[in-house]
Amino acid sequence: MNFTIQRYDTLGSTNSEAADQARRGATEGLCIIADRQTAGRGRNGRTWISESDSGLYFSIVLRPRSSAELIPLITLMTGVAVCDTLLEFGVKADIKWVNDLLVNGRKICGILAETVDTPLGLAVVVGIGVNLTSRNFPDEIAETATSIEAVTGRRYSANEIAEPLTRYIRYFYDILMSADGPGETISNWRRRSSFYSGKPVRVRLANGIVEGETAGLEENGALRVKTPDGSVKIIQAGDVELLREIA
Ligand code: BTN
Repeated sequence: MNFTIQRYDTLGSTNSEAADQARRGATEGLCIIADRQTAGRGRNGRTWISESDSGLYFSIVLRPRSSAELIPLITLMTGVAVCDTLLEFGVKADIKWVNDLLVNGRKICGILAETVDTPLGLAVVVGIGVNLTSRNFPDEIAETATSIEAVTGRRYSANEIAEPLTRYIRYFYDILMSADGPGETISNWRRRSSFYSGKPVRVRLANGIVEGETAGLEENGALRVKTPDGSVKIIQAGDVELLREIA
């Protein structure tokens, strides 16, 4: 994959810009970075607060073969790539299924993968938000979020993070696209996540709540949760609104 990196001072959302360019024929590897987003999006319609120079706001266009089934695995692959990127800065993060990176239980990065219908076929836009500093956190996330600066005492720029990030995305995306890509991606995720198995969780679904213990991932990246009656519920990516350890 060849990367083209476009940098902007201000965008509504880097995901929206990447999606627009994908619709106009952008090739795989287009990366959009903004210093600030005025309409940054999180999962489930939430806002991703994106103050100037306080985070890395990054999106990449991917054009995988058979995009639809691969989406959950692309999200897992990206979590692995971000995890290894953060390690280069001395940050050891855990990956909470399916797309949150946590340090000491606080969120340092979120990932939003979206599909886009384009004249060249279905594309996937993967958006990554990494908190560089906690200084501008609003009250509502101050207790639950953290940043590279809070963890390491050092302030890094978005560009410093973007360089290893693109390198790791290339590496782990190539693995995902290879013959045993899904299996290897799940093993890579497993090695970096305490959520793979034996984790007590509560999952809020559209039609109720599932409580139990995590019991590995399905081949497509869905989460298996073993409930107290011994049955295993399969949680597909996108179904989960909340996944928390039970205190
Ligand atoms: C989440 O955890 O809810 C996902 C957050 C994803 C935020 C990033 S910031 C860059 C990209 N542009 C967006 O509008 N969202 C993603």
